[in-house]
Amino acid sequence: MSTGLLIAFEGIDGTGKSTQLRLLAAYLQQQGYTVVATREPTDGPYGRQIRALYHNRRQVSPERELELFLLDRQQHVDLCIQPALTRGDIVLTDRYFFSTAAYQGAAGCDPEAIFRRHGFAPEPDMVLLLTLTAAESVARIRELRGEGLNDFEQQEQLEKVATLFASFAHKCIVRINAAQPVEAVQDSIRKTVLQLIRRKRKGCTG
Ligand code: TYD
Repeated sequence: MSTGLLIAFEGIDGTGKSTQLRLLAAYLQQQGYTVVATREPTDGPYGRQIRALYHNRRQVSPERELELFLLDRQQHVDLCIQPALTRGDIVLTDRYFFSTAAYQGAAGCDPEAIFRRHGFAPEPDMVLLLTLTAAESVARIRELRGEGLNDFEQQEQLEKVATLFASFAHKCIVRINAAQPVEAVQDSIRKTVLQLIRRKRKGCTG
């Protein structure tokens, strides 16, 4: 029986998910909560295989790539997420199964079939979906990080990914405009997460 909270950060590359997650984790810790901050792909064996593919996805079929993300997530749930939820911690994950539905969906797999293959993964209490256009995302990655785009980040591909993210209608999704300044994004995130914590304490998460 889970008593903790699972919050996933989702969105296309360059939306600032990792920064926002880090800021939220520090804030919640200051408030006295026990927080587990984690990410996918993980640093486990399947996550490492995925990272090795970053610059050349064509080494494997879309189906094999999907398989690797599912194996990585299964381990992540078993070794990290579920134990933390059972302890009653707040788990913040940088990406979760919505990323698989959006990215591997954009690569040609069926997003609904991908959702159905996640019976093993606890439903998140909240998904913070950071929204940005693909063009803004690409500009940020180039200018701010000074990086070239890896295969996962090609603009055309990101447009498909953004369209899929926009189509998801799950009740747990809260959309946050990531084009705002970092502090404004963080403020919106804190407000919505504090509301979730209050609702959960009263025993209603719906
Ligand atoms: P990213 O969050 O950028 O991780 P890192 O900062 O460690 O590089 O994720 C890496 C890429 O993996 C990103 O472009 C999205 C992609 N991805 C998928 O295609 N499917 C998934 O299920 C996940 C979790 C990530």
